[in-house]
Amino acid sequence: MRDFSGKTAFITGGASGIGFGIAKACAEEGMNVVIADIRQSAIDDALRIFEKNGQAALGLPLDVTDRAAYARAADAAEAAFGNIHLLVNNAGIGCAVGPLWDVSFKETDLALGVNLTGVLNGIQVVVPRILRHGEGGHVVSTASKAALLPVPGCGLYNLTKSAVVGLMETMAEDLAGTNVGASVFCPGGYQTNLGASSAEVTARLTGGDVPTPPPPPPKDGGAMPDWEGLIRPAQDAGRRVLRGVLRGDLYILTHSEFKDGVESRVNAILRAFPDETPNPRYGEVFPFLTYNALFDGQTQVPPLSPYTTS
Ligand SMILES: NC(=O)c1ccc[n+]([C@@H]2O[C@H](COP(=O)([O-])OP(=O)(O)OC[C@H]3O[C@@H](n4cnc5c(N)ncnc54)[C@H](O)[C@@H]3O)[C@@H](O)[C@H]2O)c1
Repeated sequence: MRDFSGKTAFITGGASGIGFGIAKACAEEGMNVVIADIRQSAIDDALRIFEKNGQAALGLPLDVTDRAAYARAADAAEAAFGNIHLLVNNAGIGCAVGPLWDVSFKETDLALGVNLTGVLNGIQVVVPRILRHGEGGHVVSTASKAALLPVPGCGLYNLTKSAVVGLMETMAEDLAGTNVGASVFCPGGYQTNLGASSAEVTARLTGGDVPTPPPPPPKDGGAMPDWEGLIRPAQDAGRRVLRGVLRGDLYILTHSEFKDGVESRVNAILRAFPDETPNPRYGEVFPFLTYNALFDGQTQVPPLSPYTTS
């Protein structure tokens, strides 16, 4: 997308935290904003702010795991604002902690349902609509830094978010040659309501069958560290996402503090290739298996400065 003004953004989990930060950034750019969220009270709070600012916003109650409801929500968004241009699959929950063999089937199904299938539902319902109108657009899905560098003890969350990275890399490949872009957003720590909202959503979607996910324990069981200045306000996330959309970034990252850790992971993968001379014929016969130009499109991201749509 090269410009935002007058276009429409459909943002799941848009009533709170990072999704609300993205919604506010969209509204500031003159977009019509649809916030689709499972919590009506959060929608009501968010809409009051858009109304106060005189910004065009529609709130829709939606559980992203409900495919039929998702299609109805997309219909309602189009009825209000016309074509959807920017889809932000951002709704997500914190998951049961502990080793994967210890989490229950119900906890697993809930986590995969909201954090992964919910994203896929957005893609399957909304992307055909964006492609059909032909005006161009973009899809962003919120994964996490945990997808690139796993958080110890949070296997289920790591798993769902890693899957979203793979999903969006595939989307970028599938959308190549169209005027619709794809990005995966991998934020580090932001000030949001994830703990409380995850508890509420977990209780609602499981009828209380799944215990509330606890916050991740401090590493090595020590006291909670001083987080002052480390956990960012959600507006920062909104600005970074819109800049990434404008730039056409495949990966929208937030914290350079994680770069060394991710580099160590990538280097481990590279070291795991057997130290053998590659057969040059392989790349000639199977070029689509040995190289993907998709990754060459990701250029170095500069420090965040006020972005411009011109
Ligand atoms: N806060 C962080 O530090 C952080 C870091 C990395 C990734 N994330 C991811 O960012 C995304 C947004 O989370 P947040 O931190 O802003 O938390 P948040 O709780 O403030 O916002 C998440 C919103 O998603 C909604 N939601 C949850 N399940 C839903 C469902 N089934 N259908 C529709 N809406 C649903 C919630 O009601 C809530 O309003 C999540 O995907 C989360 O995993 C957050």
